Amino acid sequence: MSLGGKVWITWTRKTKSNYVGKIILAAALTALCILMLKQSPSFNSRSPFSNHEPGVTHVLVTGGAGYIGSHAALRLLKDSHRVTVVDNLSRGNMGAVKVLQELFPEPGRLQFIYADLGNAKAVNKIFAENAFDAVMHFAAVAYVGESTLDPLKYYHNITSNTLVVLEAMAAHGVKTLIYSSTCATYGEPEKMPITEETPQLPINPYGKAKKMAEDIILDFHKNSNMAIMILRLFHPHVSFFHYFSLSVKTQMARLGEAPRPELREHGRISGACFDAARGIIPGLKVRGVDYKTPDGTCIRDYIDVTDLVDAHVKALEKAMPGKVGIYNVGTGRDQSRSLLRHVRRLTGVNIKVDFLPRRPGDYAEVFSDPSKILLELNWTAQYTDLQKSLGIAWRWQKLHRNGYGTSVTIADS
Ligand SMILES: NC(=O)c1ccc[n+]([C@@H]2O[C@H](COP(=O)([O-])OP(=O)(O)OC[C@H]3O[C@@H](n4cnc5c(N)ncnc54)[C@H](O)[C@@H]3O)[C@@H](O)[C@H]2O)c1
Ligand SMILES: *[C@@H]1O[C@H](CO)[C@@H](O)[C@H](O)[C@H]1NC(C)=O
Ligand SMILES: *[C@@H]1O[C@H](CO)[C@@H](O)[C@H](O)[C@H]1NC(C)=O
Ligand SMILES: *[C@@H]1O[C@H](CO)[C@@H](O)[C@H](O)[C@H]1NC(C)=O
Repeated sequence: MSLGGKVWITWTRKTKSNYVGKIILAAALTALCILMLKQSPSFNSRSPFSNHEPGVTHVLVTGGAGYIGSHAALRLLKDSHRVTVVDNLSRGNMGAVKVLQELFPEPGRLQFIYADLGNAKAVNKIFAENAFDAVMHFAAVAYVGESTLDPLKYYHNITSNTLVVLEAMAAHGVKTLIYSSTCATYGEPEKMPITEETPQLPINPYGKAKKMAEDIILDFHKNSNMAIMILRLFHPHVSFFHYFSLSVKTQMARLGEAPRPELREHGRISGACFDAARGIIPGLKVRGVDYKTPDGTCIRDYIDVTDLVDAHVKALEKAMPGKVGIYNVGTGRDQSRSLLRHVRRLTGVNIKVDFLPRRPGDYAEVFSDPSKILLELNWTAQYTDLQKSLGIAWRWQKLHRNGYGTSVTIADS
């Protein structure tokens, strides 16, 4: 900028007495001013992200570089919404954000902001500079086992950070919040299936931190006319978006699950099955064979991430000022024992299984009653063919052997 200015001034001295030169100088200085103004951070009133636009919902997706958040951002963009992803990449993958940026490069569609939600000043600045219509709050640390080892990390990054987000929403008049909570807030209920009325008695720091965040949101809601949706997610298994009709090549470039190596230990069972099939880990560790269940192992309600994201979008559409909706998001099915069988058939690998003692903080059986969300939001799980979902996930795994770090060229067929 300043270099350009110097060049112009030197040139004009040589043509001091020239009238035309003076006009050119004036024009050049004007152009320079405009350029400088455009580059300065305060000149952002032209940014589509800083203005509300009729018919366009601008959604702040916290944790949008993460597994569920990146899929949610993709769906929102596909539905023509405007998306701002805030993530500090402590867990997520910048690769996922890059995929989204490649799919939606037009101005005003997607922006990524690198920030820590624990930094209230930074969060406040983001809200001051952007005109959000709604917040989908996914950012969190989300591993039950880790939460028992490092509880403060959980209370900090879940409960306290949710408070920071709420305060910023209140200060800047953002009225709609979709909160991604968890079935871990129910603890170990005596009765299955779990309904929204089941008492919430969480048994590990992860569940407790999420429950506290819910309580803060609900208390705040009582004296505001905010539109609140709390979704208690059951366990998503790895998968792709099914319903995009893009070419195979583009599909492959899309999103999958790629946890950091140090987190694989805490990860989801479907991911662990694939790691075992690929020889990344020697076999599968099934933690706990003495639960009061038919085969002694944990019972889980698995759900495809596509369905999960669909529930968030339906919740956003149906959110009403002054109202709060709380929904379980699950399939109501128990497919945990068929999971390993499917993965063995899919990969052709006879995955070795070690049976180990229980993992601290785990529940024996967890599955949802999904009738409320069907009745009120008209949502029901569509992708319940576990074998098919796993097949798509396995294809991504095979093509991304180093997660988002691998670039693969695939013939379009
Ligand atoms: N995965 C599950 O099985 C499951 C089940 C129920 C509920 N949930 C909830 O869904 C949400 C998303 O889970 P996920 O599986 O996608 O997790 P994830 O770890 O893949 O994504 C979380 C994202 O949040 C970001 N993040 C964390 N702390 C942050 C901070 N302080 N500032 C900015 N960004 C931060 C991480 O970098 C990451 O990208 C969580 O709120 C989780 O509690 C997940
Ligand atoms: C992001 O989060 C990590 C871990 O939570 C933290 O160590 C780091 O300081 C944060 N970075 C920024 C820029 O907020
Ligand atoms: C969470 O908060 C703690 C501070 O309590 C910090 O050290 C940690 O890096 C944060 N982020 C993650 C992802 O753990
Ligand atoms: C509910 O969703 C189905 C598709 O899942 C749709 O066909 C139907 O029209 C919806 N009903 C209402 C009342 O919106």
